[in-house]
Amino acid sequence: MPVTTNIEDLRVLAKRRVPRMFYDYADSGSWTESTYRANEQDFNRILFRQRVAVNMEPRSTQSTMVGQPVAMPVAIAPTGLTGMQHADGEILAARAARKFGIPFTLSTMSVCSIEDVAAGTDNHPFWFQLYVMRDRDFIARLIDRAKAANCSALVLTLDLQILGQRHKDIKNGLSVPPKPTIPNILNLMTKPRWCLGMLGTRRHNFGNIFGHVKGVENLGSLAEWTSKQFDPTLSWADVEWVKQRWGGKLILKGIQDVEDARLAVDSGADALVVSNHGGRQLDGAPSSISALPEIVQEVGNRIEVHMDGGIRSGQHVLKAVALGAKGTYIGRAMLYGLGAMGEAGVTRTLEIIHRELELSMAFCGRTDVASVDTSILLPGSYPTGTPRGY
Ligand code: GLV
Repeated sequence: MPVTTNIEDLRVLAKRRVPRMFYDYADSGSWTESTYRANEQDFNRILFRQRVAVNMEPRSTQSTMVGQPVAMPVAIAPTGLTGMQHADGEILAARAARKFGIPFTLSTMSVCSIEDVAAGTDNHPFWFQLYVMRDRDFIARLIDRAKAANCSALVLTLDLQILGQRHKDIKNGLSVPPKPTIPNILNLMTKPRWCLGMLGTRRHNFGNIFGHVKGVENLGSLAEWTSKQFDPTLSWADVEWVKQRWGGKLILKGIQDVEDARLAVDSGADALVVSNHGGRQLDGAPSSISALPEIVQEVGNRIEVHMDGGIRSGQHVLKAVALGAKGTYIGRAMLYGLGAMGEAGVTRTLEIIHRELELSMAFCGRTDVASVDTSILLPGSYPTGTPRGY
C-alpha cells in the first residue's frame, strides 16, 4: 500500500485511479468554483493559540451527534455516485465508518442501495440522506425502506431542488454507468484497477431508484434526471410531512442563512447542517465556516448545529468545533480515500483526520474535545458574526 500521510496524498492517488468523469464529479464546484475554494481557504485563515506545559494525557475525541456516540465529531457526508469512485463504494465506506465508530450517511443518489448497505454492514445502523422528488409515493416508500433498514437518522437535504451547474460534468458527459464513447473507453483503459473492481460487482446504477420507480429504465445524465424528478416546489410543509412519516432523528442539511436556521428550529428537527453543498450549488455564497458562527449564536442553544464543506484535515474539524459545531461531515476527503484504496483508503482518511484532530487539540492545551471552544483560537483570526463581515 502506498504511504499516505495526509488527505492530499489520497486525492492525488484517487485522481490516478478513478475514471476522469467520476473524479471530476467529486472534485468540482458550480460555476467559478469560488465558494468551493472558499470553503477550504477560509479555514486556513483561522489561527490556533498554542499552549505549552499542559498535561496532554489522556486524550479523548469522543462525542455525540444527535444523541449517538461518535469516536470523533465527524460523520461521513452523503455523496452521490460513491459506488462509481470504487466498486461497491458505499458498502466499503459504511464498513470503514462502522469500524471507526462514526456515522456513515448514504445518499439517495447512491449506487449501492439502502438494502445493499444494510446487508453489507450486518444491519448496523447508518444514516440515510433524502432528496424529495415529485413522486411522493416513491419518497414515502424510500423513507419506509430506510426505517426497515434500521437507519438511525434521516438527513433531509434542502438545498438541491434544482442542480447547480458544474461545467466539468457537462463536458465529460457524466452518466451512470459511463457511456461507451471513444473518450470514455480510452480513459477507462488507463484505469485497470477500477475496471476490474466494476467487473466484480453487479452494482452499476442508482440502486435506490432502479427497479423502484415505474418507467425509469435509464437515468441519462444526472442533470437531466434531477431536473425531471427532483421537486422544485419543496417547502417547509414538506419538511413537516417527511418528519411525520419518518418519526425518528431528523437532520436538515443545506442551511446557510440565519432566517432559515430559525425556520429549521421551528420545524422541530434535531439538528441542522450549515452547508453550501460543498460549493456545488450557489456559487458566490459564503464559505460554510464563515456562515457557522452567526447561526450558532442565533440558534445554537435550541438545535444541534453541524457543518460541512472544505474539511480536509483534523485541524479543520477542530476549528469548526471551536466555532460551535457539534458535528462535522467529510465528503470529498472520504471519496479521495475510497478512490485511492477502497475500504482501506477510507479507514486511512479517518485515521489521518483523527490524528490531526487529536494532536492539534493537545497543542492547544486541551485533552477532551468537549472542552474545545473559541478560546483555542487567536482572537481576530476567526469569523464572529455575520459572514459578510469576515
Ligand atoms: C448531488 O448531491 C451533487 O452535489 O451532485
